[in-house]
Amino acid sequence: MKRIVVVGSLNMDLVTTVRSLPKPGETVASTSFATIPGGKGANQAVCAARLGAQVKMIGKVGSDEYGSQLISILEESGVDSKGVYQNGKTGMAFIQVSEDGENSIVLYPGANGEITPQEIEYQKQIIENGDFILLQLEIPCEAVSHTLKLANSLGKKVILNPAPARILPDEWYPMIHTLTPNETELSILTKQEIQTKEDVIRSAKILMDKGAKQIIVTMGKKGAYFIRKNVHTHIPAYSVPTVDSTGAGDSFTAAFTFALAQGKEEVAAAQFASKVASMVVQRKGAIPSMPYGHEVEK
Ligand code: RIB
Repeated sequence: MKRIVVVGSLNMDLVTTVRSLPKPGETVASTSFATIPGGKGANQAVCAARLGAQVKMIGKVGSDEYGSQLISILEESGVDSKGVYQNGKTGMAFIQVSEDGENSIVLYPGANGEITPQEIEYQKQIIENGDFILLQLEIPCEAVSHTLKLANSLGKKVILNPAPARILPDEWYPMIHTLTPNETELSILTKQEIQTKEDVIRSAKILMDKGAKQIIVTMGKKGAYFIRKNVHTHIPAYSVPTVDSTGAGDSFTAAFTFALAQGKEEVAAAQFASKVASMVVQRKGAIPSMPYGHEVEK
């Protein structure tokens, strides 16, 4: 089994359920409230570990109760958390989930926003010992950039989940093995409108021309596209009821990486990822909804 290193965010999610998401200026009453561990980095680390990978995480939580809870859940799920710093205030995500499972999220980065390139460098040995390096964009750009350069200089494969989306520096693309945007993120990265399958493929090619080796575009109920050079394969989504889509994209990226680490080829890995994500959308919350390997097999 190859080793996965996740460099990214950890949040405490403050989740309210509402009938429908409020429009600007509207006040709506929630039907429930819960604090649930999450954060794109932690979600991906826990998902890969529960599926059976050896996972180490580098990140930062606050020196507060939420921070300690997040470290405990990582450890309970089998993630080595020695690379997680504890200082300042834990990041929080204010999440509203509607009856049809859609969500809207406001992020308070807290400690995630304070991790520095130097702190990543201190954890060089963890990256050195990993095979796949998993990144998202909830930590500062300089920290992501440093990780990319370090991982590349060590010959590691980097999977970047560009969420939340922002324009990426051109110099990053040649250092990315797989990019996993959803349709909206692909549109932001390429400044292109995405309506049709042709738009998806054309936009993905823009990013491959910049140097990314392959792209998986996730599209919720419409499935996903795996795109590399002249190959573009549609991966259908499982038809399941959506209870809460929080963390589904994270589980897709993590499960894809896990399957690659197991030696699966890319399309089979994406099919496996689609299966895992279909389980996650049927459960509430981010980290609590990540399935164990035996549940996926069953
Ligand atoms: O991708 C879902 C995650 O986004 C949530 O867990 C929340 O913390 C935000 O980071």
